[in-house]
Parts: sequence; C-alpha cells; structure tokens
Amino acid sequence: MINRSFRVLAVALLVALGGAWGLSGSITLDAPAYAQSSGNVPGDVLGNKNDSDFWRDVRHGAAGKVTITDQNAAVMINSSGEDWRLFKNGALSSLGGWGMLGMLVVLAAYFAYRGKIKVESGMSGKTVVRFALFERFSHWLTAISFVWLGLTGLNVMYGRYVLKPILGADAFGAITYFGKFTHDWVGFAFMVGVVLLIVLWFKNNIPDSTDVKWMARLGGMLSKTGQHIPARKFNAGQKIVYWVVFFGGISISLTGLALLMPYEISLFSGTFAFLNVFGLGLPTDLTVLQETQLALLWHSLVALGLVIIMFGHIYLGTIGMEGAFDSMYSGDVDENWAREHHSLWADELGIGSGEHTSEQAGE
Ligand code: HEM
Repeated sequence: MINRSFRVLAVALLVALGGAWGLSGSITLDAPAYAQSSGNVPGDVLGNKNDSDFWRDVRHGAAGKVTITDQNAAVMINSSGEDWRLFKNGALSSLGGWGMLGMLVVLAAYFAYRGKIKVESGMSGKTVVRFALFERFSHWLTAISFVWLGLTGLNVMYGRYVLKPILGADAFGAITYFGKFTHDWVGFAFMVGVVLLIVLWFKNNIPDSTDVKWMARLGGMLSKTGQHIPARKFNAGQKIVYWVVFFGGISISLTGLALLMPYEISLFSGTFAFLNVFGLGLPTDLTVLQETQLALLWHSLVALGLVIIMFGHIYLGTIGMEGAFDSMYSGDVDENWAREHHSLWADELGIGSGEHTSEQAGE
C-alpha cells in the first residue's frame, strides 16, 4: 500500500516538476547565463542592456513582439496618455497662465505710461458711419461667444486651482458641468461669427505698403504726443488682429469639431503627412486617441494665444482709446477721430484733412 502511494507521489512530483520546468524554461541553464551577464536582463541574448534601461524603455512604451494581429498588444505600458496629461496640466497651463498675466502687466504698464489715447483735436460733433448694423452684429456674435467660450474653457483648465478652493467641490462641479455643456454649443455661434467677420472685412485687411510704414513706427503708439501714422479703414495692428482671428478662428473651430466628433474627423495624420514634405518625419498613422490628444492640445494652445491677443484688442476697444467703442456700439465715429486714426480712410470718405494723400502713404 505504502509502496503504491509512494509511486503515485513520485509520478505526481515528476509531472509537477516537469511542468514547472517546461513553463519556466531552463532554470538550471538560465542561472549561470544570468550570472555571466552580471545582472543584465535575462533573455537579452546580446546582454547589452541593464535592468533599469530595459524597464525604462518598457515604461515609455517600447514595443515587444506579439504574434496576434493587434500589434498594440506588444506595448506593455502605453504612457502617451500620461505624458499628454502631464504636458497639458504642466507646461501648457503654466505657459498660458504666464502669457495672460504678462499681457495684463504690459497693458497696465502701457496705460500708466500713455493713458487713454485722446482725440487730439477734440470731438467735432460730426460723425461718419464706420460699421453697418450687420457688421456690428457679426462682431458682437463673435465677441460674446468668444468671451463665453474663453471663460468656460479657462475654467476647465484652471478652475480646479482658482475656483474650486473658493466655491467648494459641489458648486464647482455643477458650474463646470454646465460650462462644458454650453461650451460645445456656443462654439457654433462663434464659428458663424468668425466666418462672417472673415468674409465681411477681407478686402479691408489685405496688407499693403501703408502697413509697412505703420509697423515701422508701431503706429506712433509709443509716442506721448499723439503721433498718427496714415492708415486706411484698418491699420496694420488691426490687420494683424484680423489675420489672427482668421487663422486662429478657423484652427480652433476645426479642432473643436474634431473633439466633438473624434471618430468622424481626424486632422493630424493628414496635416503631418503634408508637413512631412519638408522632411519633418512626423507620424502619420495616428490612432483616434492620439488624434484627440493632439486636437485638444492644439485647441488649448490656440485658445490661449487668442485670449492673450484679445486682451490687447479689448483694451484698445474700451479704456485704451477715446471714441473707439462708439464705432462698434452705434456704428458711427467722430470725424476728427477718423481723421486722426485712419487718415487715408477719411480721405476716401471725402472728410479728410488732406494732410496724408495716398501718394504720401507709399502707393
Ligand atoms: C469682448 C470685447 C470686445 C470689444 C470691446 C471689442 C471692440 C472692438 C472695437 C471697438 C472694434 C472697432 C475698432 C475700430 O473701429 O477701428 C473692434 C474691431 C474688431 N474686433 Fe473686436 N472687440 C471685442 C472682442 C472681439 C473678439 C472676441 C474678436 C474675435 C475673436 C474680435 C474681433 C475684431 C476684429 C477682427 C475687428 C477688426 C479689426 C480691429 O479693429 O482690430 N473682437 N472690436
């Protein structure tokens, strides 16, 4: 009986050991190999990689080999999501925060230096039409929707650091949920506004030689004596705002749509394929997840750039310059305002002082 039990036990032990041997590979053969490779990762036939390098590569998404169809399975740790999150909440947020703060400091310093830019010759009491009703409607559609999108977007980016400690988690959560929901829909109003502005003001914003002269002296904005450089309906500074809105508005709208419909719209694979013409070697086989990550980064970057530039625009359109707000409010501006700030435009309207002819402006 004992003999029989012993035999069964011996067979069971052999099977178990054989199985373990088979599963784990050659234990006895590996051990000396491991010793000879002085701590290198077992299985690395060349033995030229130490443990920390090996695991660092794995941690950063190095791919091994798999025989199944889904090659993504060869990546043990996909860290692109974490890298993306760290960049978005780290470098990008700081850059945007400092950029916005820097712009506010510059504007405050400029206001302290220059004060409100006045109409030197005083108001004449006679006005001229600057913007028709439809132009003003288009501007305010864009402006109001942009401000809402900016506030709700910035809340998603910075709200947890700024608002949450003040409002508490519940109120902040409710506001952010509502903000995110409206952000998606107000985006469409912004897109309509941007397209209208682009079309309505395109011909007034084509750069010409007057802009070079205006830019060379920064429109006289640094002079305290009210120096004015000849300009048509829009000066070079305003044309820059227009083209920023043109490219920034289109770019932010397209990435916004891609974020709303990630499976329908992929922007970056195609864009990268085009850019690779210049030898950049960018990846062109992006997954939906990578497309979405890039769309959100670009969307946020462009949004921050637009917000920073709009601080300057809003400053000049309100407290920075006497008479500017009227043009977008009532549509009319004082004739002296037109003569001082847009002398060539005033000439075109036949109300100019004749001081700056088109010839002088470099035509
Ligand atoms: C929310 C506050 C805003 C205020 C108070 C404001 C004010 C003004 C004013 C007064 C003008 C006319 C300037 C002139 O007569 O020469 C103007 C023009 C313009 N605005 Fe705005 N604006 C605002 C926001 C925006 C936004 C958010 C955008 C676009 C995203 C925008 C785009 C433009 C463009 C393209 C022009 C024509 C070029 C220029 O004057 O710079 N504005 N704005």
